[in-house]
Amino acid sequence: MRYRSQEVAYWYFAVALLLFALQLVFGFLSAVKYLGPDPLKDLLPFHVTKTIHTNLLVVWILMGFLGSAFYVVPEESKTELHSPRLAYVTLGLLTVAGVVAVVGYMFGWTAGNKLLEQPRPIKPAIVVVMLLFAYNIVRTLAKGSRITVTAGALVAGLSGAALLYLPSLLEYTNYTVATFYRWWTIHLWVEGVFELVQAELLAFLLMKLTGIERSVVEKWVYIVAGLTFISGLIGTAHHYFWIGVPEYWLPLGGFFSALEPLPFLALAVMAYVAFRGMERAPRNRVALHWALGSAMVALIGAGLLGLAHTWPSVNRWTHGTLVTPMHGHLAFFGAYAMIVLAMVSYTMPFLTGRPESEGRAQGLGIWAFWTMLTGITGMTMAFAAAGVAQVYMERILGVGYLDAQLKIQVHFQMLLAAALLFSTGVLLFLWDYFGRHSKRGTHLAAGGASRP
Ligand code: HEM
Ligand code: HEM
Ligand SMILES: [Fe+2]
Repeated sequence: MRYRSQEVAYWYFAVALLLFALQLVFGFLSAVKYLGPDPLKDLLPFHVTKTIHTNLLVVWILMGFLGSAFYVVPEESKTELHSPRLAYVTLGLLTVAGVVAVVGYMFGWTAGNKLLEQPRPIKPAIVVVMLLFAYNIVRTLAKGSRITVTAGALVAGLSGAALLYLPSLLEYTNYTVATFYRWWTIHLWVEGVFELVQAELLAFLLMKLTGIERSVVEKWVYIVAGLTFISGLIGTAHHYFWIGVPEYWLPLGGFFSALEPLPFLALAVMAYVAFRGMERAPRNRVALHWALGSAMVALIGAGLLGLAHTWPSVNRWTHGTLVTPMHGHLAFFGAYAMIVLAMVSYTMPFLTGRPESEGRAQGLGIWAFWTMLTGITGMTMAFAAAGVAQVYMERILGVGYLDAQLKIQVHFQMLLAAALLFSTGVLLFLWDYFGRHSKRGTHLAAGGASRP
């Protein structure tokens, strides 16, 4: 790193990784309930553990994005961050809001809207967090010597995420109306502005790691942004098929969401072009694994597994079954968890003041990568098998919900086995970050960060 203030990213990543670990605890708590008996049924019922599992996911991903922006923007704009202190205040506020929300869920304090369960008083706090972030980063851009496409689009993506959170402040008693607007936040985040964030972070990493020229990646960022906009906006309607809105949403949702894999394909091609053009391997091989991996796994998890059930004629069978978490896990992991882990891995040598770890002793990091990837693949397959069997039994044979669940328990055993493997990978990653490369200071590179 070149600017001392980029160091704030370390603390964003540290908190994000701890929340990631906590997210997994609630994943296990949710999964074991499928196998019963459940001694925690009254204390922590399924809807509470699942809410905490998914909310922690969103919070740590968001933290990872903000931390990444605090690293990327000063470097791209060639200036110190406007206010590191404000960045720490923002982190503190987001952490407190997240923790209060999680504890609140345990006591039944919830707005009840899936993925937007944060109660009324928490939501404005999150808006304030995003405003503080935007203020800090825009002031940084303004005083910098240049605004690159990468930095500008990153800030636009995150500001878009803040704006799109606003519809969630409105609460409706009509379930159809509430669901209709819920997707303005959730869908337009994961299949809209978050995709832009992924594209910019990937562009930044590919420039650093493979030496691909800025003008080439910038062109790809424009292509990804265009394709995301064309497909993702009206693609929202793939969530409107069965919620009680007019029928014209069926063809609209089907057609436009079927185009949604295209931006993910463009990202994968961008990564492949960079990889092919690489003259020699970068010192930080771990970061390269995560960056290329993110592009590829997002294409499979979001693009292909999303496409698999986005047609109304398929979705009428699979909607709301275990086919949905099959896709949800690999999509979220590939697109957003992996890109954050790529940023963490890339910045680690600079943020921990251990430049030597950029090149040497990377075995543990590579093991963490493959263990997590194998684990999440197994989990995806377990959900897929459970989901397809569930659809067949429940919706074709007419077997009751609970009877069908009993018959698919074996897939939850597989899910747990794969999840254990996945968690081992996460522990290796955490050990690499907090243990082996514990923070010693910061490493300021004179002529710019890592080059291949
Ligand atoms: C230890 C590992 C994990 C376990 C055991 C686990 C387990 C589960 C379970 C049982 C559910 C509820 C599924 C249902 O509705 O019936 C769930 C939901 C979910 N999990 Fe995980 N999970 C794990 C890790 C992850 C990771 C790493 C991510 C993302 C990066 C993730 C993202 C999600 C999402 C987005 C949902 C909601 C899906 C939906 O509503 O359909 N989980 N998880
Ligand atoms: C990185 C991008 C993506 C992420 C993180 C993601 C994640 C998710 C999650 C968590 C859900 C469950 C939401 C809920 O029920 O509240 C979901 C649902 C869905 N996703 Fe995605 N998704 C992504 C991209 C896509 C794409 C590109 C497509 C289509 C090509 C797609 C198609 C669908 C469909 C059809 C559903 C509804 C499933 C149902 O009816 O139960 N997704 N997605
Ligand atoms: Fe969607």
